[in-house]
Amino acid sequence: MSDNIFTQYISNRNTLVKNKKALQTTYIPDQLPHRTDQINEIVSIFSAALYGDKPSNIMIFGKTGTGKTAVMSYIGQELKKADPNEDKSVYVYVNCEVVDTPYSILYNIANQIIPDSEMRIPFTGWVTDKVYNELREYIDKKRKVFIIVLDEIDRLFAKAGEDIFYLLTIINEVLTNSKVSLVGISNNPKFIEFMDPKVRSRLGEVRIIFPSYDASQLEDILQARALMAFEDGILEDGVVPYCAALAAQDTGDARRSLDLLRIAADIAERNGDPSVTEAHVKSAKNKIELDAVAEVVRTLPSQSKTVLMSIIVNTEEGHNKMTTGMVFSTYKEVCNLIGCSILTQRRISDFISELDMLGIIYARVISLGRSGRTKEIELSISKDVINIIKNDDMFRNVSSYHPSKQMTLI
Ligand SMILES: Nc1ncnc2c1ncn2[C@@H]1O[C@H](COP(=O)(O)OP(=O)(O)OP(=O)(O)O)[C@@H](O)[C@H]1O
Ligand SMILES: [Mg+2]
Repeated sequence: MSDNIFTQYISNRNTLVKNKKALQTTYIPDQLPHRTDQINEIVSIFSAALYGDKPSNIMIFGKTGTGKTAVMSYIGQELKKADPNEDKSVYVYVNCEVVDTPYSILYNIANQIIPDSEMRIPFTGWVTDKVYNELREYIDKKRKVFIIVLDEIDRLFAKAGEDIFYLLTIINEVLTNSKVSLVGISNNPKFIEFMDPKVRSRLGEVRIIFPSYDASQLEDILQARALMAFEDGILEDGVVPYCAALAAQDTGDARRSLDLLRIAADIAERNGDPSVTEAHVKSAKNKIELDAVAEVVRTLPSQSKTVLMSIIVNTEEGHNKMTTGMVFSTYKEVCNLIGCSILTQRRISDFISELDMLGIIYARVISLGRSGRTKEIELSISKDVINIIKNDDMFRNVSSYHPSKQMTLI
């Protein structure tokens, strides 16, 4: 290839990660350390399907990043290997985060198992009963065991109520040739208590818990992924244990530990460094935290953003600490500049408490002697996050504004 403006980037590209996929959170490894008991239990239940019997319905609970989705994807792949032509069993996986109405659940299941495009169910236009009846008839004709995995099932329950679970759990009573077995996955064990007891007991015939990982378990998980991702000598010794320890301190979330390792390697690559060190992990941790705060700030409701902008304006005028009254008087001026309605000081005080709870500002109650009490407020976000608000389109008229001299203290 002849030289052009891209050449220097191609030849100088510093690649520390030989297999990036292995560090992606969507990658399903062949080995899932510390989940053998759960895998064995589920596989022994599912094996009934290979003899034509109905496996018990299962509810899987565990906090975020405890391997629930990974384990079920792995088992799904293995089931396909055991029954490659789907002679006995059909495995259907639905993520209810994206599919959240009874119609769309049935539509999604139906269109995963009905290959013939002529017979497919339309995206909209039918009543739910009709979709259900078509699906039931199709399933029964196949004379197989259908295992339907509903991931993030609590979201479906929150949005669509329990009718859909009722329909799916009683389906076996109207099937003569086929059987349907359900697996629900959730990181919120509470949701099931709100279900009708009958549906609840049908759905959770077997309950399996995925406990959170401790630091040494996370280290094993991460070590296995690191071996796939890096050549020898690229990772400094302390890196994997450090990522594991940080994630264990949080919630024992394997996704978080992988994120730390992947982002640390990314930072090292971009710096042109020869290896990944604990310092890179520290930067990765800061980046993750910054990104999380930035996301919260970006998605604040506009009134809340306006209050935050008023606090930023005052800070930049040299008032590092300010009272609720000062925020309110700046807020009124900012509202006029951006053309939004002005809420009462009481409401603004509520927004201030919310921003405090989110960790965006720091507010403490102080006494003003006879004048009563107020809050002393200061920002607790970095320059980068402050800039997200300042650059928000809604504040384009505020850039050259200075608040008028304020006498209000409370
Ligand atoms: N035992 C394990 N071995 C290897 N990788 C694992 C293991 N457990 C989890 N992981 C990895 O950690 C990441 C998060 O796991 P997973 O998505 O399965 O979590 P989850 O329990 O489904 O979380 P959520 O409740 O947030 O959906 C994935 O990349 C997965 O591959
Ligand atoms: Mg999951």
